[in-house]
Amino acid sequence: MKLQFTLNGKSRELEVNPAKRLLDILREDLGLTGTKEGCGEGECGSCTVLLDDKPVLSCLTTALHINGHKVTTIEGLAEDGELEGLQTAFVEETAIQCGFCTPGMIMSSKALLMNNSNPSEEEIRAALAGNICRCSGYSQIIRAVKRAAEES
Ligand code: FES
Ligand code: FES
Repeated sequence: MKLQFTLNGKSRELEVNPAKRLLDILREDLGLTGTKEGCGEGECGSCTVLLDDKPVLSCLTTALHINGHKVTTIEGLAEDGELEGLQTAFVEETAIQCGFCTPGMIMSSKALLMNNSNPSEEEIRAALAGNICRCSGYSQIIRAVKRAAEES
């Protein structure tokens, strides 16, 4: 199929199998390796991106799902070389250890803050419930999201 969609603000066209995973389109076809593959079966959240500003697992999303829609990845957050507020807050709160979960955590947090500019700790925990951090950095991650909300 000819896939047409908007990726990080730019219109893209690509010839792909309609069943191809968004995760593979991003990493293999477009070279956007910021989105990570952990489990590959919808359990870890490391592959989270935004589809029309809602968080989705790109390992469970196909070309068909994104045709005609808007996709935002971690690469689409920084502007003019400046980190976006959540990215800065994750760095400053040392919410990154190995960093493998970080793009997914930030994209889920981004979706939360787009709908709720002042989330409670419970709301942050609920929004990140599908994102697993194997380095146990959860308290720093919650602090980073709160900080980004306060500073935005
Ligand atoms: S790689 Fe998609 S949820 Fe784990
Ligand atoms: S920082 Fe290592 S998995 Fe979260």
